[in-house]
Amino acid sequence: LFAQPCDFIWAATDALQLPPSGPPEIAFAGRSNVGKSSLLNALTNRKALARTSNTPGRTQALNFFDLGTPPRLRLVDMPGYGHAAASKNKIASWTRLMHDYLRGRATLKRVFVLIDGRHGLKPIDNDMLDLLDRAAVSYQAVLTKADDIKDADRAPRLAETAAALAKRPAAFPEIILTSSETGAGIAELRGAIAKLLAE
Ligand code: GTP
Ligand code: MG
Repeated sequence: LFAQPCDFIWAATDALQLPPSGPPEIAFAGRSNVGKSSLLNALTNRKALARTSNTPGRTQALNFFDLGTPPRLRLVDMPGYGHAAASKNKIASWTRLMHDYLRGRATLKRVFVLIDGRHGLKPIDNDMLDLLDRAAVSYQAVLTKADDIKDADRAPRLAETAAALAKRPAAFPEIILTSSETGAGIAELRGAIAKLLAE
């Protein structure tokens, strides 16, 4: 699946611009700088498919990418949150866009919520998880930057994240530890996505 071509198709900054539903969708959410674009590139074997032209706090777009000809999977790069410079207005429009997108997107199979593996869940991540729980959208945590986590921190970070997710109704229990630098966990993530498509 992931050997197939993947192309940017659409960017939406408000609900009116959302593309009609197409193939099954998988979205990637997470704080600014957590590594969403890097992970999309690692998944699709592309160096600059998802560009970091999404200057943190500036672009508030949902970016859509179709994979395969004909498209079999749609990947969605969600705008990062938690950027220090974001104004109240921007946060409000971000929140509105998230609500509008998440509410009744029937083809959305799962949101992968990226969490910086070096820092673990922050309050702002919990706000995102609250939003997903309320929208009853299935989500799964991905701990990023595994290459940059101290060996001794890895197991406790996974355990504390799993414990936090266990209390959440829409969370999928398994956590994937990834590194876009070394490729660790990318095969596992591809496997999880392939499994979702087969359901
Ligand atoms: P926004 O688009 O601003 O929300 O950020 P993003 O989540 O798309 O993060 P991006 O992929 O642009 O990565 C942010 C920074 O983290 C870049 O400097 C990347 O090189 C770095 N980075 C991403 N993935 C990894 C990783 O697996 N390991 C390490 N060490 N650094 C990474
Ligand atoms: Mg990005």
